[in-house]
Amino acid sequence: MNILKQHAKLERNLLFLILGIFITVSIGGIVEVLPLFTIESTIEKVQGVRPYSPLELAGRNIYVREGCYLCHSQMIRPFRDEAERYGHYSLAAESLYDRPFQWGSKRTGPDLARVGGKYSNEWHVRHLIDPRSVVPGSVMPGYPHLAETPLKVDDIAEHLKTLKFLGDPYTDGMIAAARSDIAAQATPEAEVDALLKRYPKAAVGDFDGKPGRLTEMDAVIAYLQVLGRMVDFTTFDPAAADR
Ligand code: HEC
Repeated sequence: MNILKQHAKLERNLLFLILGIFITVSIGGIVEVLPLFTIESTIEKVQGVRPYSPLELAGRNIYVREGCYLCHSQMIRPFRDEAERYGHYSLAAESLYDRPFQWGSKRTGPDLARVGGKYSNEWHVRHLIDPRSVVPGSVMPGYPHLAETPLKVDDIAEHLKTLKFLGDPYTDGMIAAARSDIAAQATPEAEVDALLKRYPKAAVGDFDGKPGRLTEMDAVIAYLQVLGRMVDFTTFDPAAADR
């Protein structure tokens, strides 16, 4: 009872109360912030993470433009139920070249951080044009215009240049080849050795089912197909990454 009386005193004295709150919040803040000073980096060093290829980057821009992030997260949290449903939890390094990041804040649809390779390109085309044609109960809106809209490519080199300015490791060679890399990635049987050297594991081919036409659909699917595929989790060692 005595302690309650003491507390009543504290609550009735504004200055004491403010001081008390300040001390309590400071302790909480220090506990959260101090450990960060003892580690070298909050982003693990991870093999395989690379900047987006020009076509993937164009697709990512459309993903942002269409607001896909309003229904889809791209961050698998380190909980067992999430890992069993979506795969290995997301690493900070996997968002290294996402400007802005696409972690999202709400899941009306599933997390997309590891959707790359989960479905065929044909499935994505059908799903994006009319989600209910492949998932009957889906509440996702259709995006049929993506299949009809030619992909705008004339500003892609500028986009790479801007990201380079911000610190992404795009080389002058990558910037010079940006336009031709877009074409190569979306053309079946194109010469892609140089592209794959610049952007390992990029999915290549005709994405939208219309060879010869470069549409926004091509770009969005190229982007979806690389999500979560850059890091090889069969050999990933979290302990080594933290060192
Ligand atoms: C109104 C919310 C909403 C928006 C906006 C939305 N989606 Fe979805 N999405 C869903 C729902 C719900 C599902 C689950 C049912 C289904 O598969 O259609 C889903 C499923 C998906 C899947 C399949 C995921 C899986 O693992 O099965 C992909 C891929 C996808 N969406 C991509 C997109 C893209 C790309 C955009 C933007 C062009 C987008 N979504 C916008 C709600 C949304």
